[in-house]
Amino acid sequence: MQNLPLKGKIALVTGASRGIGRAIAIALGQAGADVIVTDLLIENEEIPHHDLENYSALSAYFAEKKQINTLATCEFIRKSGVRSMGLKMDVTKEDDIVSRIDDVSKSFGHIDILVNNAAVMDGLGLLEKQTTRTFERDLKVNLTGAFLCSRAVWPTMKATGWGRIINISSFTADSGAFAQPGYCASKAGMLGLTKTLALEGARYGITVNAVLPGFIATEAVNLYSEDMKERICNRNPMKRMGTPEEVAATAVFLASHQAGYINGASIPVTGGMELLVF
Ligand SMILES: NC(=O)c1ccc[n+]([C@@H]2O[C@H](COP(=O)([O-])OP(=O)(O)OC[C@H]3O[C@@H](n4cnc5c(N)ncnc54)[C@H](O)[C@@H]3O)[C@@H](O)[C@H]2O)c1
Repeated sequence: MQNLPLKGKIALVTGASRGIGRAIAIALGQAGADVIVTDLLIENEEIPHHDLENYSALSAYFAEKKQINTLATCEFIRKSGVRSMGLKMDVTKEDDIVSRIDDVSKSFGHIDILVNNAAVMDGLGLLEKQTTRTFERDLKVNLTGAFLCSRAVWPTMKATGWGRIINISSFTADSGAFAQPGYCASKAGMLGLTKTLALEGARYGITVNAVLPGFIATEAVNLYSEDMKERICNRNPMKRMGTPEEVAATAVFLASHQAGYINGASIPVTGGMELLVF
């Protein structure tokens, strides 16, 4: 018999056009869930270039290369025999989130699983060079975005008495990362948000957990120089980066009934890179 632990569940993933978000959306579909694939970027949607640069250099890069796979990911997910819908949803825009979740509720009924994955991670700059605008942008997308999306799905999860929120944080929430003050502060903030919502959600059957990926070979990380990628692999006990699918497998487990007593946890998927390596 096919093992479909999420059959009948409805999941929404943010920032799922590529990378880890895309892998999570696909894995949730393969586990039997209907999946709403959302992203700032969606095929056939012209966004003025200067606007994209306001969001992030990475967004501008992938839009320019036409490497946008929001609707294509839905098509792929549907091959697993589940329903899937692609939506343009900017996690910094409260109105956008509320109206999209409303659209989903009308078509699918309710949302059982939310994966807060959307993020910007190109705000590099030593403290004195870091602009207030970039610092605030990192918090707005990575942290406030997760807060707004969680708040928007909360009533439907409460009403059904079951819910899973999975926040994709980062190992840098614990370790910090050179020249990434906004990114690391946002990812550490996600852990506080995770624990607080975990406390609040427990009485309604909602669990909230965080996943802390290490270096994962996504399209964005593959843009690093060869030298940088080699250094990253060398300091990992496993001598390699992780795959998006390895992060996705953890998210699927956290979304399942089997993970029902895991709440407020921060789970590293790092290959042990935080351990002492000689
Ligand atoms: N790849 C890694 O090594 C790594 C390590 C630790 C944590 N993470 C975390 O994993 C997640 C995914 O990483 P990735 O490597 O796939 O990144 P990525 O940049 O490839 O993907 C991020 C996605 O978020 C979307 N996005 C950006 N701004 C948005 C907005 N305002 N609204 C909606 N969507 C928006 C982008 O369009 C993109 O599809 C992020 O939260 C990241 O911080 C990644």
